[in-house]
Amino acid sequence: MGVLSWILNRFFRRAPARAVVAVPSARPSAADARRREPREPRTSAAEPAATPFPSAITHLPHPDRVAVESIPEREAVWLDAIERRVVAGDFDLPQLPSTTLAVVELAADPDAAAARLAALVERDPVLSSELLKTANSVLFSGTAPAQTLQQAVVRLGARQLRGLAFALQMKRVVSRAKGLTAYADSFWRQATSMAKLAREVAAAARLDEDEAFLVGLLHDIGKVPLLDLIAREVNQRSDVSRALVGRVFAKFHEQVGSQLATRWSLPFDLAQVAGCHHDFAANTASPRFAALASLVHGLDLQLALGSEPSFYELRQRPEFEVLGIAPEARGVLLKACVAAFQAAQAESNAFAAPRP
Ligand SMILES: [Fe+2]
Repeated sequence: MGVLSWILNRFFRRAPARAVVAVPSARPSAADARRREPREPRTSAAEPAATPFPSAITHLPHPDRVAVESIPEREAVWLDAIERRVVAGDFDLPQLPSTTLAVVELAADPDAAAARLAALVERDPVLSSELLKTANSVLFSGTAPAQTLQQAVVRLGARQLRGLAFALQMKRVVSRAKGLTAYADSFWRQATSMAKLAREVAAAARLDEDEAFLVGLLHDIGKVPLLDLIAREVNQRSDVSRALVGRVFAKFHEQVGSQLATRWSLPFDLAQVAGCHHDFAANTASPRFAALASLVHGLDLQLALGSEPSFYELRQRPEFEVLGIAPEARGVLLKACVAAFQAAQAESNAFAAPRP
């Protein structure tokens, strides 16, 4: 199963899709509309079975928790050069390929016809291949395999096609970070974990689950070109300290995320959140999605560190207030997040960042 198929199967869908044959429109069905309706918040009456708390992830670097670590002396020169290049805009801010841009724009149109979407997808062989593989994977397949791109578009739906297109481009760009494989793996683990956690939180916060998934997956998109920049500046060395990477991420990933979101014409809320999520209260344009991004980052970090007391202390986080999740519902939600995180890690054991 391809990486993108894995992402979509595991995160976009909760239940097997209906059997589908080719139909002329990509408009969402009534079943799709019902599926996207926010679910009732979980209560203690629906408390999930306890899941063992995960052990710390030690095989991947955690560049997001290195504020107190000093930069090795030899890296100070690299850090200075990287900072100057970011400030000057002297780095590669990748374009969204014209075909991908056209696909995501058309997929955002609720009146877009499947035939037009399929015709666009056909121009990108990699996207075409991933779309067919995903549509015919176990969770999506109906009684008959999707044999055409139009059937595959209908089966997934325009919204998931848009997510697939964005994820594919992230995959393409992060693969350029030569020498920083461990950091690329860490980025993908974190992004996919946060996507799954965001979907879990969305149900309790009465947010659209598909939109929440994309916020979890893409809000740190600014790290992608920064990884590429670091790799180039350190001349593709693999022993770069997490302090250096963490320092660059902390200082610039929202700024660069905003720039990349503009270049990629990401939807409004996604662009706003990519540019401002850690100080989520400052994001007055998309406050709930910014709070969601900040919360799932905190959840993933404590889960990845294997820190159970710190994780459950997160129930006091102000993001819950912004999201409208009552205190009495937070314990149940956090337990559900443990299970979601565990499932994501188990499924991603064979998952690694795409290689060039
Ligand atoms: Fe971030």
